[in-house]
Parts: sequence; structure tokens; C-alpha cells
Amino acid sequence: MKALVLGASGATGKLVVQQLVKKNIQVRVVARESAIIPRQISDDKSIEIIKGNINDFEIAKIKDLVKDCDSVICCLGHNISFKGIFGPPRKLVSNTVAKIIEALQSLNLNPKFILMSTTAYTNRKTGEVNAFGEKIVFSLLKVLLPPHKDNMLAANHLVYKLGSKTNIDWVAVRPDSLFDEESVSKYEIHNNKIRSAIFNPGKTSRINVSHFMVGLITSDQLWREWKHKTPVIYNKE
Ligand SMILES: NC(=O)c1ccc[n+]([C@@H]2O[C@H](COP(=O)([O-])OP(=O)(O)OC[C@H]3O[C@@H](n4cnc5c(N)ncnc54)[C@H](OP(=O)(O)O)[C@@H]3O)[C@@H](O)[C@H]2O)c1
Repeated sequence: MKALVLGASGATGKLVVQQLVKKNIQVRVVARESAIIPRQISDDKSIEIIKGNINDFEIAKIKDLVKDCDSVICCLGHNISFKGIFGPPRKLVSNTVAKIIEALQSLNLNPKFILMSTTAYTNRKTGEVNAFGEKIVFSLLKVLLPPHKDNMLAANHLVYKLGSKTNIDWVAVRPDSLFDEESVSKYEIHNNKIRSAIFNPGKTSRINVSHFMVGLITSDQLWREWKHKTPVIYNKE
């Protein structure tokens, strides 16, 4: 089994890599030259590190990255800095998702594709609706916060452009407010949001997000349960 992890230098991505390695899954990561990669990853000879910026990769290079992979996990996100939030590339995540899907479709491949999304995404297809106050806040965020718009476009690509009548297998995992904790703890997965992401957010630890994502990769039963869906993950309180 081989997995491609994008955003592997990030807080969640590196946990995904560590858990994949523990499961004896071969890992390929793409990391910018400037990325700080934990020694656990850089020193591990079983992990293939491709240097470069995924955002600049042409389709031919993306095809090369995915052609022998059984799964692709995208944990990309905009860095929390002025440049990361307001500078280019404003469509880092959505453009990457689109290019990965294009590469898979043109190669006629169907690995498990997992997007790290967010509870700020409302899946109207499954009947989720925003309350009046949330509508206002989300509309403002869409205009004022480019990463929010990017995350919405990325999830929409899967939910609407692909949907469920597709031979691309995808899951968009939606954590609520992220935080770090040492080890995996109890968590719950829901088809839809059970609380307001704006006015009553829950918490989700990054290690639990990575645990669920790796579970999706290793368990076909779990995959069948969540395929073409946007599961929400909360830590149990
Ligand atoms: N914050 C929350 O509470 C929350 C809640 C739900 C969902 N989310 C979503 O989850 C995502 C991942 O969260 P996280 O905390 O694990 O993210 P993170 O630590 O910020 O990691 C982001 C990853 O994206 C890469 N990246 C950033 N800008 C890039 C660029 N211009 N070109 C190429 N790669 C770039 C980073 O690479 P470098 O190391 O090279 O910078 C890093 O690998 C968030 O970005 C957000 O969309 C967040």
C-alpha cells in the first residue's frame, strides 16, 4: 500500500504520516523547500520526500505522484500569517484538489482520496442549513478571508462536481476547532454538523483527525460507510 500525503509538513499532515508509517504503509510526501519537516519523517528512509510546491506542479507531475498510490490525503491549508491568509496562492487547496482529480481521471485511477475540510463547510446536499446569524458570518468570511473561500471551493468540487455518481472515491473529513493533544482519544463521527461552527463550536484534536483518516485508508468497511460523504469529527467531551 502506498499513500501520497499533501501538507505533510503541517500540524495534522505530519501526524497522518506517522500513523501511516506505523501501519506499514509506504508514504510519499510533497514538501516545499522551506518546509520544516520533523526528523522522524526526514530521517525515515521508507518515506519518499518530493521537494517542491504542489501548487506549481503541472498535471504531468501530479500524474507521476499519484500513479502508484492507493490513497491520497490532502491536509493542505493556508498558513496563519498575513502572507499565508491574504497572499497568493489564494486557491491552494481547491486548485490542488482539482488537479489531483484531473490526474486520477485521466489515468483512470481510483485511489481513496481524502480531503481535510472543515465544519465551516455546510453540506447543503445532505440537508445542512445555516441559521440566519451563521449565514451572515459565513458570507462575510467568504469575502474577507480567502482561505475560507478556498476551503469552500475545494469541498464543493467533491460534493458537487464529483458527487456520488463518480468513479473517483472521496471523503471530505470535517473537523471543528483544531487543537493538539498527545494521543488518540475518544471521538465521534457524524454525517452532519451537530453544533454551530460559529456560535457553539466543538473541538477536534489533530491526532484524532489523522487517526480517522488513516482508519479510512486501512478499513474498507469504514471507507464504504463514508465514501462520497463529508463526515464531521468531534472529540468526545
Ligand atoms: N484551524 C482550525 O481550527 C481548523 C478547523 C478545521 C479545519 N481546518 C483546516 O485544516 C487545515 C489543516 O490544518 P493544520 O493545522 O494541520 O494546517 P497547517 O499546520 O497550517 O499545515 C498546512 C500545510 O499546508 C502547507 N502550505 C501552506 N501554504 C502553502 C503554500 N502556499 N504552498 C504549498 N503548501 C502550503 C504547509 O506547508 P509549509 O510547512 O511549507 O508551510 C503545511 O504543510 C487548515 O488549513 C484548515 O483549512 C482548520
